[in-house]
Amino acid sequence: MPYKRITLTHFLLQEQRRLKSSGVFTSLVNDILTACKMVSHEVNRGALVGNHGVAGSENIQGEEQKKLDVLANDIFLHMNELGGNYAAMASEELEDVQAVKGTADGRYLLLFDPLDGSSNIDVNISVGSIFSILRLPDGADPKSEGAFLQPGVKQVAAGYALYGSSTMLVLTTGNGVNGFTLDRDVGMFFLTHPGMTIPADTQEYAINASRARHWEPPVKRYVDECQAGTEGPRGKDFNMRWVASMVAEVHRILVRGGVFLYPADAENMKKGGKLRLMYEANPMAFIVEQAGGVASTGRQRLMDVAPKGLHQRVPVILGSKNEVERVIAYHGEYDAK
Ligand code: AHG
Ligand code: MN
Ligand code: MN
Repeated sequence: MPYKRITLTHFLLQEQRRLKSSGVFTSLVNDILTACKMVSHEVNRGALVGNHGVAGSENIQGEEQKKLDVLANDIFLHMNELGGNYAAMASEELEDVQAVKGTADGRYLLLFDPLDGSSNIDVNISVGSIFSILRLPDGADPKSEGAFLQPGVKQVAAGYALYGSSTMLVLTTGNGVNGFTLDRDVGMFFLTHPGMTIPADTQEYAINASRARHWEPPVKRYVDECQAGTEGPRGKDFNMRWVASMVAEVHRILVRGGVFLYPADAENMKKGGKLRLMYEANPMAFIVEQAGGVASTGRQRLMDVAPKGLHQRVPVILGSKNEVERVIAYHGEYDAK
């Protein structure tokens, strides 16, 4: 059998040649890959090297930081600082934008959630990293928050690493979605999931149901109808999953379909929702749309939301096209009353 394995780096080079692009993607993504491999290593070593537990600090959002939140953030900052492909970086774990030293000519901006789903670290359940790449607007000061405040449609690339039963990296550069699995012996990601697409229909949804008493009527209607199963208006049974790691939920949806909801509700509405627009919702929305799915706030396409702050929160409803469109329609019907 001819040898056919393709590394992520070679895949990006092939794409660049095919698209006759000037070829930035490989260098933009390479240091992120290295960071993800290092975070994967630390997640795997876990309690053996004292990587579980809390760091004893809070981030800008008032959330308790776990040791791995801090370590993964340091790894991302360090690897991308060394690589020098970005003019500046922004992270869930940093209050302000961090300019990259010595890259006066950097034309790109990097946003990331270094460790997503960190409540799962100590119980050995899947966590991930999420990243989004933007262009530095002409004339913009990379050290300013304003340079980053671009809607999701402006993303050049986005992806996530999933530290699950295997470590995977899923990436879009605006030309579909491809998944790569880490071969630990070789130390490289290989293409294993080319052209990932989300089935338009599904019988599986994901929502933190403990918040049901706070939900808006359209969300309650949707979940009630799913739960009514074959006896309800949908006429079919639904399955429910909640990992509490958005990366793991989105990955499941990319592989077998589904809908993920973290809506704004009566309790989190004053903050705008739970998930962060710039480094959680937008990169996932880009990936989901590129895989044929839909990503919405319930009332607006997620990638059209005009950001007002680096750490802004937003309602998130994404996944299988027909199901997300149904939830959007329920919001429309409710608002029209
Ligand atoms: P993070 O660990 O980066 O703060 O993100 C956690 C997010 C997301 O991954 C997940 O879907 C959600 O928070 C879980 O929320 P609940 O605690 O309400 O389940
Ligand atoms: Mn997160
Ligand atoms: Mn995080």
